[in-house]
Amino acid sequence: MTIQSVQSWPILDSRGNWTIAVELTLSGGARAQAQVPAGASTGKHEAVALPAAQAAANVNGEIAQALIGRDATSLPAIDQLLIDLDGTQDKSRLGANALLGVSCALARALSVAAGQELWQTLRDIFRPSRPASLPRPMINIISGGLHAGANIEFQDFLVIPNRAATVREFLETTVSIHRAVGRALREKGYVLTGVADEGGWGPLLPSNETAMDVLSSELDGRADIAIDVASSHFYDNQGNYQLKREGVVTNAAGITDLLASWTERYPLVSVEDALAEDDWEGWRNLTQRLDSRLQLVGDDFFTTNLARVRKGIETGCANAVLVKMNQIGTLSETFAVLEAAHKAGYRCVVSARSGETEDSFLADLATASGAGQIKIGSITRSERLAKYNRLLEIERSDQLAMAGPVTGGRG
Ligand code: PGA
Ligand code: ZN
Repeated sequence: MTIQSVQSWPILDSRGNWTIAVELTLSGGARAQAQVPAGASTGKHEAVALPAAQAAANVNGEIAQALIGRDATSLPAIDQLLIDLDGTQDKSRLGANALLGVSCALARALSVAAGQELWQTLRDIFRPSRPASLPRPMINIISGGLHAGANIEFQDFLVIPNRAATVREFLETTVSIHRAVGRALREKGYVLTGVADEGGWGPLLPSNETAMDVLSSELDGRADIAIDVASSHFYDNQGNYQLKREGVVTNAAGITDLLASWTERYPLVSVEDALAEDDWEGWRNLTQRLDSRLQLVGDDFFTTNLARVRKGIETGCANAVLVKMNQIGTLSETFAVLEAAHKAGYRCVVSARSGETEDSFLADLATASGAGQIKIGSITRSERLAKYNRLLEIERSDQLAMAGPVTGGRG
């Protein structure tokens, strides 16, 4: 079976920015598409996405030329060919978005050719060390930072429906909490202007802690809390974290103290990017102090980059990895990060971007890898629901276990 054609064209993402779709056809006639997402609070160490028109032109030109007629059966071999063809460390010549679109379209075309579900094909190709399972989600309820007009600094206030036993149950719980929080925000007189980039509420609040207060007051024991501080975006590169809304400037130790106090007052179990992307010393201290109480997730800190994840493991930084395919650019490299994290006892959260498409690929990726957790935004906006609804579909047709509850701290 060989690759017969590869084509790409620009499409719009959920923010109305241009991204790309890729369609790939195999010699047996199997054909499939993939769409590529884009971030707003991007990490400095992410692979480079080129402008959509340029990325599409690279797929239609140089990449198509290199791939047409090639044996399609080994996705890792094709990924390696793409990496070598690009030739740069950060994929800036052909574009990480161009490479990822091809990698995902090929995976899907192989699943069509095999008459399998996408998650089964991914599992068979990459054979992760954990069995496939339905991921437990962390779901955005209140948004801040770059996703909500910098209303407050911390980017995501999410719920983990830890008591739910099925996808349907966790969605029901979350819809109910999302509505209750919207009602509570309105009753307290906070200005609500629709929903933010990932479908959570983006209210004008006096402080980050107010978001914790409102969210925790509507949980009723049904869920625990996760947050994404996304702190690189209010860090001045000289040791200061600027909480402008409250008129406070703090440092790594101050953020660590704040989080420690929140673990005592709220059902907080997971914190992402508590500290800035290159604050290795701060991360080490944070991990020493809170490793047993919190899941400490690196997003911009790790950027799904194997070298950074290995350095984090060796130096005792964080205890979980946020996994975003487009931060690195191919499925093979994404699975390498998942494997390395699992082997070191670090947990994984497969994640979408704030600029998403209606592609549901992530639901299959999270299931296939047995990652255990998924983060795809809120329960409004169809680019988010495409993934939740795909999880419902997988749950309905396949006998898969749901990953267990997310506890604070390692283990
Ligand atoms: P991004 O945000 O896609 O804008 O980077 C998502 C996140 O920070 O987790
Ligand atoms: Zn993040």
